[in-house]
Amino acid sequence: MKNIIFSGMQPTGALHLGNYLGALKQWVELQDKYPCIFCVVDYHAITIPYQPKEMEKRIAELALDFLAAGLDPDKSIIFVQSQVPQCTELAWIFNTITPLGELERMTQFKEKSAQHKQNVNAGLFTYPVLQAADILLYKANLVPVGEDQVQHIELARDIARKFNSTFAKIFPEPKPLLTKTPRVMSLADPSKKMSKSLGEKHYIALTDSEATIRAKVKSAVTDTSGGSKAPGVENLFTIIESLDQDGITGELRSQQKKGTLKYSDLKDTTANVIISHLRPFQTRRAELAADRSKVGEILIEGASKARQIAAKTIAEVRDKIGVR
Ligand code: AMP
Ligand code: TRP
Repeated sequence: MKNIIFSGMQPTGALHLGNYLGALKQWVELQDKYPCIFCVVDYHAITIPYQPKEMEKRIAELALDFLAAGLDPDKSIIFVQSQVPQCTELAWIFNTITPLGELERMTQFKEKSAQHKQNVNAGLFTYPVLQAADILLYKANLVPVGEDQVQHIELARDIARKFNSTFAKIFPEPKPLLTKTPRVMSLADPSKKMSKSLGEKHYIALTDSEATIRAKVKSAVTDTSGGSKAPGVENLFTIIESLDQDGITGELRSQQKKGTLKYSDLKDTTANVIISHLRPFQTRRAELAADRSKVGEILIEGASKARQIAAKTIAEVRDKIGVR
């Protein structure tokens, strides 16, 4: 079977190092190996409160992040979810074969409904069904994401199986593709995953200035227990290593073993590695931001290619379910 890659991110603000190391960096690498489709999932983003006036800008900002990180429209299809209406059509059909009990188990639903108590809507509940439609509309079988999305991909697999056994075998059973850092931890509280909702000092944004990155890494929690493998320390090591700088950690690792490692050295190295890795990203981002109409054209072109694939799948699906 041919491998096809699909993944997406929500336009909900600046990306952080967790998004990059858990997902985006791998997307860039996969482009040279497989046909890839990458999506700005705006219909997912409206399941939590947002400012309608800001949506267009957020979509453009995320598309800029994608391109600046190295997604290449000559290699991959890059588009905005809402531009392909077949996705919501397929999601509706999938809703009819998804057991409520499966959706009730979803960790992200439980977390988000606790965070947004005033707006626990049906869209938030069926969010993973829309995600399954994203993936299966393109018959993708490999989905590069961070660890927190694995449960959703497993549900997409269950939905594919259910469709295949109920109607006709037309969908692949998708699998998650994880990086070696599928869960980057918060700098300020290494017992939690890095995320924007925890607050500024917990994450490094890909657009943070050099001074901000140094300050955030400097104040990162390292070792509160006196143990040699403290989670905060390991987090800094894995950040360096996943930025393809394993070589640099050799000496620091051996100091760690001997008990002579100075956390200030580890932090300086971490900050330097992050800064030098993000510099080309930030430069490219600034260049692309100067020509936003080009970004718009890329998304229009991407949506047109995506719709061609989507139209074929939805025709096949409608035929199999007897709605022609
Ligand atoms: P989000 O911005 O939370 O919608 O996540 C976008 C992508 O980044 C998804 O593939 C997530 O699994 C991944 N991701 C988010 N936070 C982290 C993290 N702390 N570590 C690794 N991957 C992450
Ligand atoms: N739910 C994903 C997240 O929060 C975003 C997403 C939407 C996605 N559709 C997808 C990821 C399809 C992979 C494949 O990060």
